[in-house]
Amino acid sequence: MKILVTGGSGFIGSNFIRYWLTNHPEDSIINLDKLTYAANTKNLFDVENNPNYRFVLGDILDEKIVDELMSQIDTVVHFAAESHVDRSIDDPSLFVKTNVLGTYTLLSSALKHQIKRFHHISTDEVFGSIPFGSDAQFNEVTPYDPSSPYSASKASADHFVRAFIKTYKFPATITNCSNNYGPYHHPEKLIPRSISNILDGKKIPVYGQGLNFRDWLHVEDHCRAIEVVLLKGKIGETYCVGGLKGGTANIDLVKMLLKVMGKDESWIEYVADRPAHDNYSVDWSKINRELGWEPKYDLESGLKATVEWYTNHQDWYKETKKEAEEFYIKLNKKN
Ligand code: NAD
Ligand code: DAU
Repeated sequence: MKILVTGGSGFIGSNFIRYWLTNHPEDSIINLDKLTYAANTKNLFDVENNPNYRFVLGDILDEKIVDELMSQIDTVVHFAAESHVDRSIDDPSLFVKTNVLGTYTLLSSALKHQIKRFHHISTDEVFGSIPFGSDAQFNEVTPYDPSSPYSASKASADHFVRAFIKTYKFPATITNCSNNYGPYHHPEKLIPRSISNILDGKKIPVYGQGLNFRDWLHVEDHCRAIEVVLLKGKIGETYCVGGLKGGTANIDLVKMLLKVMGKDESWIEYVADRPAHDNYSVDWSKINRELGWEPKYDLESGLKATVEWYTNHQDWYKETKKEAEEFYIKLNKKN
């Protein structure tokens, strides 16, 4: 395969590129990334010299670059997005541009160039929220009901992909995945923010009472799910992807992290809640039944490995964490 990866310098994209080049050395990858605040050029230092890898600095909204690259590849794996809910609440405009118009730009160019496969990376957040006390889970037929500007922009992108499939018989697949964690995760997000705060001697800010829940999946398991969909998935289909444990309350997750790091609960600081704060849990039985995928990591061992990675890579997050904490200070002053 000749793959165009968009957003490959971010968290999941960089893990995917490393995973794919290791496991499919016959394939080549072009990584188109704008290098926004969320990217880190250190994420791919070890693949930079791989002859099957090429980096292109550019915006998915740039039709000229996109057209040029589409003529050189047969498969697209589309990760590029503005990905942080709190930033989307602060200023949704870039989310509409990148996530909606950027996806549309890629789709129309891929259609024109008759690309063999377009795989769209989406999120469980498009489905809205599972009520407290319910053991329901999102699946492929759950109606879309996004709560944040981020999830609304991802839902809109999904609708365009689905419409291209129906209208043009466009060869796309979609995965709607739950919360990822693991190496190279930006320190603005809960798990890396918590670990790096503790390493820096600061408390963990828990929104509200910490009762909202997320369905955590190790990023390597997500990469394996994308692999199985690219290799065996049915064109036109959506696959939901989630972790082994289902919904875990944030407070329980933070306590697990504190235990791994040998700290007590005095390291928790309850702070103002996020508006329209959702809960997620994903039923991944379709991808399991049809394509044989299941997660390998349990949350306990995955978190342990992640704490170890951050402990050994404190230089990796220094700069990005500084910017992230400045963002949070500004956000808190506004609210
Ligand atoms: P991230 O924020 O870490 O990385 C996003 C990458 O996209 C960055 O490298 C950034 O520079 C690039 N980018 C942003 N705008 C761009 C543009 N206009 N043109 C080119 N590149 C651009 O995000 P992530 O957490 O790795 O998420 C990747 C994808 O997976 C996103 O589509 C996200 O919605 C989806 N997703 C994320 C999670 C999660 O838990 N992180 C879960 C499910 C789905
Ligand atoms: O569900 C998949 C989604 O997961 C992806 O689509 C998004 O791109 C990704 O950012 C992630 O969104 P979340 O909003 O779930 O991630 P975040 O790390 O921002 O928050 C996780 C939970 O932790 C959420 O309930 C809010 C809470 N939280 C977050 C931060 C940053 C805190 O309690 N304290 C914090 O400091």
